[in-house]
Amino acid sequence: MYTLNNIKIIIADSYEQMSIDAAEIFLRQLSDKNDSIMGLATGGTPVGMYKELIKKYNEGTVCFSKMHAFNLDEYYPIKKTNDQSYDYFMKDNLFNHININFDNIDIPNGEADDPEKECDRYEQKIIEKGGIDFQLLGIGLNGHIGFNEPTEAFSSKTNCVNLQESTIKANARFFETEEQVPRKAISMGIKTIMMAKKIMLICSGANKADIIKKTIFGPITPMVPASVLQMHRDVTFVLDREAAVDIESFL
Ligand code: PGA
Repeated sequence: MYTLNNIKIIIADSYEQMSIDAAEIFLRQLSDKNDSIMGLATGGTPVGMYKELIKKYNEGTVCFSKMHAFNLDEYYPIKKTNDQSYDYFMKDNLFNHININFDNIDIPNGEADDPEKECDRYEQKIIEKGGIDFQLLGIGLNGHIGFNEPTEAFSSKTNCVNLQESTIKANARFFETEEQVPRKAISMGIKTIMMAKKIMLICSGANKADIIKKTIFGPITPMVPASVLQMHRDVTFVLDREAAVDIESFL
């Protein structure tokens, strides 16, 4: 493990090892505080980590019954029954396979009539629960965290965002056609994320090496939303070697 001021960096040899390391850190949080408020992420990257959590659950070594989950984001509009909704993803990849209490799950409602009201409701619910204890993040090729896309100013609270062309293209791999990718999403804001007591960002693959370098060593700018994490007091990056290739010589 490397430490740079407040940032910890773990470099794993493979995607599988990254997933195991990340699951271990996640479970350490739950063993320290079994009723932790956990912020969860979707996308290709966390799938291996979720598999590892399910494996540990099946081995009988962990319990998720007290944990509360808040999802980072959800497409808008989208039906929960759509197998590309993040509601569906989280159940399919994690919640249906562990003993989480389904009353303890919050995901932005992609079916809400009024998305702005839904953003306010969601933000309020996080505040009522006392904020996020541990936030899991992936990172987009453009540096987005949640669906906070590069822009002129950091977003603050949970907000309704227009997805950028690069994100729509990147996520098209999960849909039958690019046209089916929703053009909007509801996402926790940068301030919502930064209020989390601990943050763990996981990242794998050579195509993310450049954005990882900009995130950790570049200027803090809303044009690279993840760069704001340089200012967080307790953030851990768990990377595979390919994603770390451009930063290893600086560590
Ligand atoms: P990915 O997405 O894990 O599918 O690469 C990450 C993200 O866009 O945040």
